[in-house]
Amino acid sequence: MDKYMIQTPRLGLRRWSKEDLTPFAKMNKNSKVMEFFPHTLTDDESNSMVEKIEAHFDKYGFGFWAVELLDTGEFIGLIGLNIPSFKAQFTPCIEIGWRLSHEFWGEGYASEGAKACLDFGFNSLGLSEIFSFTAVVNKKSMKVMEKIGMEYVGDFLHPKIDKNHRLCKHVLYKISSR
Ligand SMILES: CC(C)(COP(=O)(O)OP(=O)(O)OC[C@H]1O[C@@H](n2cnc3c(N)ncnc32)[C@H](O)[C@@H]1OP(=O)(O)O)[C@@H](O)C(=O)NCCC(=O)NCCS
Repeated sequence: MDKYMIQTPRLGLRRWSKEDLTPFAKMNKNSKVMEFFPHTLTDDESNSMVEKIEAHFDKYGFGFWAVELLDTGEFIGLIGLNIPSFKAQFTPCIEIGWRLSHEFWGEGYASEGAKACLDFGFNSLGLSEIFSFTAVVNKKSMKVMEKIGMEYVGDFLHPKIDKNHRLCKHVLYKISSR
């Protein structure tokens, strides 16, 4: 079986392995990586996130892929498609998301991997639209959404975040299949 479910010129996107747990836990403890999430994650929280991601793959055949550099085999984070678990006007839906280890930012990896995930969503899964959302203060993530051709739909208050919290207000982006 192929190691990668998705491949780009520089990245391999695959199911998760035991070896990913330590570097993933390390990035989930990094305050820069987690700046736009309510809190950093403990090792247990990070490991249980991987369990949930793998359960999502088992159930739906897609999820947040573990991403590695083809050149070196290094694990650099996650990029992928997911079914959000909260209720909002636009759910149920499929979202695209990303989280990379800080030392690999600014190389275009998020956009490169995300474009390939959109192709997978539209061409292999037959989706008609894919959403993405992030806190309004997360300009880097919004830039990735725009670079991969997504369009701003509007703002919403994230139902799982206290309405007075700095991360409650979110932007919603969308892209439709052509
Ligand atoms: C968001 C994230 C995945 C981006 O990864 P990346 O590999 O650096 O992304 P890319 O290099 O593909 O693109 C980033 C773009 O944002 C731009 N950018 C960086 N900081 C920016 C800022 N403060 N404001 C606007 N644009 C910004 C970069 O210049 C780049 O655009 P360019 O290629 O046109 O120059 C990475 O920063 C990350 O993992 N952040 C933490 C996790 C996170 O917030 N995930 C999203 C949660 S919804």
